[in-house]
Amino acid sequence: MRVLRRALRIFKREIESLLSERIAFLRAVRRSEGRIAWRAVVQVDRESTVLVGAGSRVGIGTVLAAQSDETGPASIRIGRRTYVGEYNNLRADGSEIAIGDHCLISQFVSLISSGHEFRDRSRLIEEQGIPEKKGIRIGDDVWIGAMVTVLPGISIGTGAVVGSGAVVTRDIPPYAIAVGNPARVVGERT
Ligand SMILES: CC(C)(COP(=O)(O)OP(=O)(O)OC[C@H]1O[C@@H](n2cnc3c(N)ncnc32)[C@H](O)[C@@H]1OP(=O)(O)O)[C@@H](O)C(=O)NCCC(=O)NCCS
Repeated sequence: MRVLRRALRIFKREIESLLSERIAFLRAVRRSEGRIAWRAVVQVDRESTVLVGAGSRVGIGTVLAAQSDETGPASIRIGRRTYVGEYNNLRADGSEIAIGDHCLISQFVSLISSGHEFRDRSRLIEEQGIPEKKGIRIGDDVWIGAMVTVLPGISIGTGAVVGSGAVVTRDIPPYAIAVGNPARVVGERT
């Protein structure tokens, strides 16, 4: 009997979480002119925003997480005719991820726009708050290769290309080609 009660509790919790995620998904779809795949995962609370511009697409398995935190609401804004492929991780808690028009965000890309303070070893990391450096801005016509990670506070200029596997720890200027971990500019589009 106890096992059954526990199973029911877990089932109820799972259904509630699935329902609230699907409601968030429908809210984002209703506000957006672009397409979000049914099998994308949208986690957005009532204060935060997910907007996908006209002609843009978000692929299956991509997580669009925009949750408020103690610093304020979150937003993910994707411009027009931008492709966000499969299994990407866009995480804008308490901050903003802004992606321009005509961008290509490949697969397994992580755009992580906030983090944790951690320097004080006498306190738990989870209790130390959120660093000032946050948000991610990506210009127009940017191509981000597969498995790239972009860290909080970073801007990637219009027309830039980021090679697959790069970890972007500094701003990338417009039309630059950047590769590696940490990402370094190795060229420029002519
Ligand atoms: C960055 C990129 C666009 C460069 O393409 P390219 O100009 O044709 O580059 P090349 O293959 O001529 O390589 C030039 C140099 O950069 C290096 N390089 C290329 N891509 C690299 C990467 N992702 N990371 C590290 N180094 C890289 C090469 O080793 C080569 O170095 P070398 O001159 O010392 O030999 C490409 O390599 C890339 O990463 N594409 C992303 C593909 C992808 O993710 N597609 C997803 C589907 S949309």
